[in-house]
Amino acid sequence: MNIRLPLFIVFEGIDGSGKSTLAQKVFNHFSDYVPCVLLSEPTGGKWGRKIRKLLQSTDGADAASLLELFIRDRSDDVQKNISPALAEGKLIVMDRYMHSNAAYQGSNRISPREIISMNLAEGFPLPDRVYFIDIDEKAALLRVTNRKNGLECFEKTEILRSIRENYHSLIDDTFLVLDGSKSTDILEKEIVRDIEKNFTFK
Ligand code: ADP
Ligand code: TYD
Repeated sequence: MNIRLPLFIVFEGIDGSGKSTLAQKVFNHFSDYVPCVLLSEPTGGKWGRKIRKLLQSTDGADAASLLELFIRDRSDDVQKNISPALAEGKLIVMDRYMHSNAAYQGSNRISPREIISMNLAEGFPLPDRVYFIDIDEKAALLRVTNRKNGLECFEKTEILRSIRENYHSLIDDTFLVLDGSKSTDILEKEIVRDIEKNFTFK
């Protein structure tokens, strides 16, 4: 397959939708014959570590501080990882990016679209494709509960429902909406087919 590089693809969805599993599978699929990096946010850097601590605390953190922390973390990620990979002509496979910021920190006070605009104003590059793994919040929560003991502050049905609605409000031409209740093998095939159709030299 003759992929047009650089190519920047991002996996998005509520917690437990299957993003990490699919990002890994798609990365494995391409990494043998395309220069490829697998990245995720929050990162393992200093802001990312601070964010994870806050998310695990019982009362979480206020939305405004989280918005700022995620942008600082993303700024480091763009500088250290994303821009260099784009300059080197790589395939970037990402587990969460600015649309997570919009969906999770979007509220009555600041809309998801305003948060996308804030990210663009920081100079963060837009991805070529957002694979939005859409799934019922109850099904996703069940998966997350099975996966680990301690739940993070967003992992409640009503909160996940409003985050899912925020994602829906962001759908545009860069999105491919996938049905997260399908098997990971079928979803992987749908993504590979999309890349073949839209991001290769004919
Ligand atoms: P996320 O990164 O979106 O939080 P994960 O990829 O960590 O989600 O998946 C959460 C759990 O659900 C894991 O135990 C994973 O094996 C399982 N899982 C992921 N995708 C699917 C799927 N399509 N069908 C069934 N189980 C899945
Ligand atoms: P992650 O470790 O990817 O969670 P999961 O694997 O359960 O999906 O991300 C941790 C949490 O950070 C997740 O609940 C979503 C949240 N998040 C934001 O609120 N804003 C953001 O900008 C990003 C990147 C993540």
